[in-house]
Amino acid sequence: MVLHTGNHRKQRRGGSNPLVGGMNPALAATLTLPRHQLADEPLPADTALQLVRDELLLDGNARLNLATFVTTWMEPQARELMAECVDKNMIDKDEYPQTAELERRCVSILADLWHAPDPEAVIGCSTTGSSEACMLAGMALKRRWSKLGRTGRPNLVMGVNVQVCWEKFCEYWEVEPRLVPMEADRFHLSADEAVAHCDENTIGVVAILGSTFDGSYEPVAQIAAALDELQERSGWDIPVHVDGASGAMIAPFLDPDLEWDFRLPRVASINTSGHKYGLVYPGVGWVLWRDHDALPRELVFNVNYLGGEMPTFALNFSRPGAEVAAQYYTFVRLGREGFRAVQQASRDVATALAERIEGLGPFHLLTRGDELPVFAFTTTPDVTSFTVFDVSRRLRERGWLVPAYTFPANRTDLAVLRVVCRNGFTHDMADLLIADLTRALPELRAQAAPMHDPSTSTSFHH
Ligand SMILES: Cc1ncc(COP(=O)(O)O)c(C=O)c1O
Repeated sequence: MVLHTGNHRKQRRGGSNPLVGGMNPALAATLTLPRHQLADEPLPADTALQLVRDELLLDGNARLNLATFVTTWMEPQARELMAECVDKNMIDKDEYPQTAELERRCVSILADLWHAPDPEAVIGCSTTGSSEACMLAGMALKRRWSKLGRTGRPNLVMGVNVQVCWEKFCEYWEVEPRLVPMEADRFHLSADEAVAHCDENTIGVVAILGSTFDGSYEPVAQIAAALDELQERSGWDIPVHVDGASGAMIAPFLDPDLEWDFRLPRVASINTSGHKYGLVYPGVGWVLWRDHDALPRELVFNVNYLGGEMPTFALNFSRPGAEVAAQYYTFVRLGREGFRAVQQASRDVATALAERIEGLGPFHLLTRGDELPVFAFTTTPDVTSFTVFDVSRRLRERGWLVPAYTFPANRTDLAVLRVVCRNGFTHDMADLLIADLTRALPELRAQAAPMHDPSTSTSFHH
């Protein structure tokens, strides 16, 4: 939301005719940027560019951001392609039929990677990210359930560790969220708990590959098997949606024997973020349904405003085509072996870094980076002079963004740090992080008490 807190009109104290005039960019120093209202007059393009660039200097350095799952590095060739496609609107499928074709090919490639038994039957589309993809998948679950003729209030079963998009889905589409809390050392959904929370009005179970909180994979196959047994006992046929925002682009390459995808007949739909381990700059996501039983036909609209008759099932209408072209580029460029090598490198960096952090002494690992290349750690019980929030703050002083946050119910007593290793985060950079952490430890240990109040800290970073 944009808050208007004042009436600051731009004041221009220099320059000639700004549309034609080659204003010396040095004059930018004499300008105040319009913040809340349009200025009366235009500025030369170079001046505007310099002013906005200067403002953006205050942004963090994306490569040092170990909080985000989102791609922060692509090859120059990918950037070039994206720049060429920046004016293409994904929805204009008639005007840009080849971009639409690349989208179709990406869906086919994902259907193959996720072992769709009948690739011809798969329906899928690109989205702005996993959040939109999850909304669409949730809507399909809800519609499928309502066609069963049930009359109660629909509910969705998932671990409390779901990403906020699922809570949004439930709020926006009036579905009861059945959030299974964490218990002791169980930090994600288990098969028993999933089944225990289901009833005849459960529209689906969301299984996460892997959890945003600690990078762990939820036991999708066990959850599916437990739901098979539940169906035998009760007759309720409850589908599984796999939120593979990150893991659906890791597991196919690094854990090929793990059955989490369309190999499990109960898995109705899967989403992923092309802009996470799909290795593309934001924002692109993907969602695929096994077949039309999973995606009721009436949810797909046909539009002819732009020329041809085109099916659309998305929340947005217009959307940039550049990310889809970049996703296809990444598939073409890397192939299976390239993807495997890139993801393995991230996992190697994550597991090695996790082990070295454990070796420093005052830290306890919750996960080790061997599922998603992501791990969470906390302080050991004997540490009383500092908290994870102090560690996060000290690393921030060196430019590193390592978020500290508390876990949700029933482990709100547990505060952790999380490191996300991505393409472009090298062993060398991991060395630098370890050096900074090692340097900070004596001072942290020497503190009389923790400095940082968790209640004033930044909350969870997705
Ligand atoms: C498991 C999971 N689901 C959904 C999302 C939302 O993804 P996006 O940022 O692509 O909308 C995230 C983001 O971190 C996630 O980790």
